[in-house]
Amino acid sequence: MDTDEIIELEKKYIMQTYSRQPIVLSHGKGARVWDIDGKEYIDCFAGVAVNSIGHAHPKVAVAICHQAQKLIHCSNIYYNKEQVELARLLTSISPHDRVFFANSGAEANEGAIKLARKYTGKGEIIAAENSFHGRTLATVTATGQDKYKEPFKPLPPGFKHVPYGDIQAMAEAITDDTAAILLEPIQGEGGVVVPPEGYLEDVQALARENDILFILDEVQTGFGRTGALFASELFGVQPDITTVAKAMGGGYPIGAVLANEDVASAFEPGDHGSTFGGNPLGCAAAIAAIEVIVGENLAENAKKLGEYFKGRLEDLMGKYDIIEDVRGYGLMLGVELGIKCDKIVDEARKMGVLINCTADKVIRLVPPLVIKKDEIDKVIEVLDNIFASI
Ligand SMILES: Cc1ncc(COP(=O)(O)O)c(C=O)c1O
Repeated sequence: MDTDEIIELEKKYIMQTYSRQPIVLSHGKGARVWDIDGKEYIDCFAGVAVNSIGHAHPKVAVAICHQAQKLIHCSNIYYNKEQVELARLLTSISPHDRVFFANSGAEANEGAIKLARKYTGKGEIIAAENSFHGRTLATVTATGQDKYKEPFKPLPPGFKHVPYGDIQAMAEAITDDTAAILLEPIQGEGGVVVPPEGYLEDVQALARENDILFILDEVQTGFGRTGALFASELFGVQPDITTVAKAMGGGYPIGAVLANEDVASAFEPGDHGSTFGGNPLGCAAAIAAIEVIVGENLAENAKKLGEYFKGRLEDLMGKYDIIEDVRGYGLMLGVELGIKCDKIVDEARKMGVLINCTADKVIRLVPPLVIKKDEIDKVIEVLDNIFASI
């Protein structure tokens, strides 16, 4: 099948929920991917910030192959070694004591919302405007962007939104029925929005004062993306619950709710569950992926190369008025333009670079954390050429 045939079949058989780029990817290596016609791309999107260890990492590939030959799935009615090993690893690298395994970021957030309600016996979750927490009914309701939820009403009750970064609005939103505050440490889908200095610390203090839980959605920021293993380290906070997914499995779908002992103990048998959550295959993939992230110090790499990338983007900002802002931490960078960026995404793809446009005007750059300096230089060269031609 060629590219046109595959696109035609997709249009015929698959529900049309995605606006796709017209290329068919076949394989990848490190920060590069190739389409079925053999065209090479530098991947600055990494499957929506998932492929942090790069494409086709041999350690994850071997772990998946070995595990698939032993036991892929066994349900949570029985124990499996890979699940407890992964839970031990996650608690050793995060500020948390216990884990619930899910299969995606939205599921992890669903679990966190349920846990917060069960622990506090209260209903209300305060989230931020412009946030993104997933597509299930509860997480799309937690998401602070109307376009994702309007067509799906009625939505579950118990969610309210305040402007991100406004501590006064957060304080005023808390009531006797507030269970938790749910925030992204950096808003990803919302346009790589960085919180004002001290904001997350102030939110944490507010949560502690009012006896409510502080949940950090690290689905996109987790596992080294921002230059620290978790963005909570970057901002000096210790949430009661952290949700993770995306980079966790090296591309294999897996997510988790991480919580402190006291909070985690609110979940009792029967309270929550998942048929596939914590299956041996996913856990083996995640153990290998996290060992690569920690063992190869990819957070440090993200910090160093992120600073270099950001500096080069700032140089472009000095050269082109169309660039209004460059922001972000590590290899989670946003370039805000004065115009919509979808055409720039098309041009970059034609020139061999995959980038993403979010919040209409923000180019989001979230490459694998193994990207090399010369690959960043190539991305800058392509963006430079595109901006020069506008
Ligand atoms: C911060 C955040 N939370 C949750 C999600 C939802 O994750 P998933 O698509 O794996 O359900 C995303 C996805 O982009 C995200 O960026």
